[in-house]
Amino acid sequence: MQDKIKTLNDKIALAKQGGGEARIAKHHEKKKLTARERVNYLMDEGSFEEIGMLVTHRTTDFGMEKEVYYGDGVVTGYGTINGRLVYVFAQDFTVFGGSLSETHAEKICKVMDMALKNGAPMIGLNDSGGARIQEGVRSLGGYADIFYKNVQSSGVIPQISAIMGPCAGGAVYSPAMTDFTMMVEGTSYMFVTGPSVVKTVTNETVTSEELGGASTHSTKSGVAHITSPNGVECLEDIKRLLSYLPQNNRETAPKLDYVLNDEIREKLGTIIPDNANKPYDMHDVIGNIIDEDSFYEIHKDFAENIIVGFARLGGRSIGIVANQPMVLAGCLDVNSSTKAARFVRFCDAFNIPLLVLEDVPGFLPGTDQEWNGIIVHGAKLLYAFSEATVPRITVITRKAYGGAYDVMNSKHIGADMNFAWPSAEIAVMGAKGASEIIFKNEIAAAENPEEKLKEREAEYAELFANPYKAAQRGFIDEVIEPKFTRRKLIKAFSMLENKVVDTPKRKHGNIPL
Ligand code: HXC
Repeated sequence: MQDKIKTLNDKIALAKQGGGEARIAKHHEKKKLTARERVNYLMDEGSFEEIGMLVTHRTTDFGMEKEVYYGDGVVTGYGTINGRLVYVFAQDFTVFGGSLSETHAEKICKVMDMALKNGAPMIGLNDSGGARIQEGVRSLGGYADIFYKNVQSSGVIPQISAIMGPCAGGAVYSPAMTDFTMMVEGTSYMFVTGPSVVKTVTNETVTSEELGGASTHSTKSGVAHITSPNGVECLEDIKRLLSYLPQNNRETAPKLDYVLNDEIREKLGTIIPDNANKPYDMHDVIGNIIDEDSFYEIHKDFAENIIVGFARLGGRSIGIVANQPMVLAGCLDVNSSTKAARFVRFCDAFNIPLLVLEDVPGFLPGTDQEWNGIIVHGAKLLYAFSEATVPRITVITRKAYGGAYDVMNSKHIGADMNFAWPSAEIAVMGAKGASEIIFKNEIAAAENPEEKLKEREAEYAELFANPYKAAQRGFIDEVIEPKFTRRKLIKAFSMLENKVVDTPKRKHGNIPL
């Protein structure tokens, strides 16, 4: 027996070596943790149980039978994070660059199946050169198996992808189908094809960082939801994100103990500038409504004219969607609509109530927006809010103009409670634009057209630049002093806790993609 145990231990030791000491040293030189180091850091101490440690590839082409590594370039298993069950795979770049073989894919699929069956989050730590070139179509098939399972799991369990090294080809498409993609600054890249292929095909010269680094994907493409300065911070970010989420779509997110206090926040009454054309930072509003330091922003550097993220309110996990007057005056455009729509759909799928803070002058006008399809992209956000059945509350802090009033979680598309501050302006458009249109002839015929416009503008503003017309119709449930906002919201979300909405039976809707 002792001999047999020794054989087992020798194999385990070999598996733990990954691609060998030299490759691990090279990996460490690049300031990257190995797959096992990542998993051990991520999981509660001693909780990780590995599955499939002794799996090996089956390829004999290109002399591959001489290069066999236990585990075949991926560590898979389960464990706990803050006491809650999760499943994980971590690709080992020291074995064939973490590339995906048929067996490597089978290992990932096995834990994905277990995560789905047992209703727990699936976390992928990606560090891979994509399909293992020596395996041809078998590795492509392996990827397709993973993609298919990503879709089966979508909306059932949270799926989180961390990109922790250079990821190419299939290694970026699976993350793209998960709920959140995180990237490490400086050491991770995502691209369908790398710089050398780009040079050959398009003759563009571009570095890996420019083509697919964390900054590119967090600012330009929006592919990355969260970026972290290093691998350890990235793993911390995964833990933080999970703390706001339920285990699956049948559960609600963990609620922290909370005792209702007076909840008055005087500061909220001082944020909106007297001049309606002056910007202010919506983060200040968010910070004064939610539980202290509980905001976790998603897509922070992309489409900054809208803010989305998770927070706690009275201990309860909520999703926030807020216009940001500091950027493009808070207008809705292509990117902000898509960003917010995706976030709304995630929250709805996972029973996370939604809070909308609204200050929006409308959709961004112009050829750039029209030619890039603002009609269809804006419709995504409208669709996403309209289909959401989680508790939904809106607070209009200032402007709610035009179609954007409808889109931003208005009563008409199913919001449960709609509040407005006294500074709210709810109308088809701003006073100047509106007066120029409806009083056009009168202004043109006036002795002093400029003065006439001002006069009519003031009249329009008096009539419409307030929340009271909407409140009279019941489109706004209550006009509230800003300082009471937090208290109102805690009570309203608590009141909506058991909300149930029956939707018509159908296969699925057809969101305008
Ligand atoms: C087999 C691979 C590999 C791959 C890397 N390696 N990628 N082996 N299949 N796809 C191996 C290398 O041979 C090398 O082995 C080791 O991993 C480390 O690779 P390096 O190139 O030395 O590392 P680095 O300079 O950091 O560059 C990393 C990289 C680059 C950017 C990922 O290796 C690369 O461009 N690889 C190919 C990417 C790619 O085109 N993949 C196929 C995508 S097609 P040694 O023995 O020297 O350590 C695809 C289809 C899916 O994925 C379809 C989805 C829709």
